Formats: sequence, structure tokens, C-alpha cells
Amino acid sequence: MKYSRDKMALPPEPFTSNRLRLRPLDKGDEPVLWQLMSDPKVVKYIGLPVETDREICRQTRLDEFAGGKRFKFFYAVEWKAPRESDAVHSMIGFVLLRPMEDGETIEIGYWILPALWGKGIATEATAAVVAHCAPLMNFPKEDISATVMIGNHASRRVLEKVGLQVTGEDIEDLPNGEIGRIWLLRWAVGS
Ligand SMILES: CC(C)(COP(=O)(O)OP(=O)(O)OC[C@H]1O[C@@H](n2cnc3c(N)ncnc32)[C@H](O)[C@@H]1OP(=O)(O)O)[C@@H](O)C(=O)NCCC(=O)NCCS
Repeated sequence: MKYSRDKMALPPEPFTSNRLRLRPLDKGDEPVLWQLMSDPKVVKYIGLPVETDREICRQTRLDEFAGGKRFKFFYAVEWKAPRESDAVHSMIGFVLLRPMEDGETIEIGYWILPALWGKGIATEATAAVVAHCAPLMNFPKEDISATVMIGNHASRRVLEKVGLQVTGEDIEDLPNGEIGRIWLLRWAVGS
């Protein structure tokens, strides 16, 4: 095993890209996490059930995230220059970067609020996270991988724009109990 979830964590200092600020996710992000997890459009290609009860969602999913075990691999995405109307916790999505369970590669993923899809936010945030974290966490970009449910063309496109390419297809057991067909992606040599 090359990479261990126990031994690794994202660099904790916030950083910025052209339009965005990335910072560690925290408990105050619960309202936006709830918004994302209860939206069928967002979870459609994740294989997660659509959350319908906010309290149960908080107890079963968000507390686990906030316990540190998972939060340490998530960055909240915010606008770099928030508008006055934005809430204090103005998260508009998140990027995750963590060792795959088999420890052989570093997985990347992201969710963005649907109202903001198509503005290049996932692409900008993902590229920024890779550029910032690979040297600080000491892994080569060639070890970055992702899995995308077949049909999630927007996500596949984000990854291809950032520098990954499809290397194959597989099936996997999804958290909602279904079996999903997935594209496997790896960082393209030379990207
Ligand atoms: C996937 C997701 C993060 C993309 O976020 P985004 O900020 O809209 O992404 P970007 O704007 O950076 O890029 C989207 C790209 O996909 C393209 N795209 C969108 N829908 C598409 C479709 N149905 N078919 C082909 N391309 C599509 C866009 O045109 C754009 O490419 P372009 O810049 O070449 O025009 C967003 O749709 C989301 O949060 N989905 C739900 C969660 C999810 O599925 N996460 C990924 C799990 S693997």
C-alpha cells in the first residue's frame, strides 16, 4: 500500500485560485452539505441515496465527516471575493482528495451547487487542489485517479480538462445498494 488514509491529510491552510478560495470543510458547512445531499440532481451519479431527513443526515453522515476521519480530505470551495449577500459560510461546493481504499492511488472528486454548474468552477477548483496538494503531500500527479459513473459526462469532462484520461470501465457496488457501471480515469502522463 503506497498511501494510507490514517497517515495522510490535506494541507490545512486555505489557498486561492483565480476566482476561488479553498479551505478545510468544517461543521458550519452543514447547511450547504444538506442542500447537496438532499438534491436528486447532485446524488444521481454518486450512488448515494437522496437524503430526506436533515437530522438523520446530520447524525449519520455529517457528524462522521466532522469527526475528522473524513473532513481531513475535503476542501470547501468558496468565491474568493464573496458578495455582501453571501452567508458567513459561503461554501458553493467541495473537492475531495484522498487515498483510495486500496492505497494505490489518490482519488479526486467534487460536488458543486447545481445553480452554479457550467461556469468552470469544478474544473478551476480541481486543478487548483491538484497543483497545491501534490507537492505538499508529496505524491506524483501520475498517481491521481478517479471513478465516474458512466453517463456523468460533466464529471468526465472536468477530469479530462484537468489532465486525466479514461483508462477503462468497471462495475462497483454503490452505497445505495445498486451496482453501477463506472469509467476509470488516471492522470495522463505529460499533463
Ligand atoms: C460534475 C460537476 C461537479 C461539474 O461541475 P461544474 O462546475 O459545472 O463543471 P465545469 O463547469 O468546470 O465543467 C463542466 C464541463 O462539462 C461539460 N458538460 C456538462 N454537461 C455535459 C453533458 N451532459 N455532456 C457533455 N459535457 C457536459 C460542460 O460543457 C463543461 O465542459 P466545457 O468547459 O468543455 O464546456 C457538477 O455537475 C456536480 O456537482 N455534479 C453532481 C456531483 C457529481 O456528479 N460529482 C462528480 C462525481 S464523480
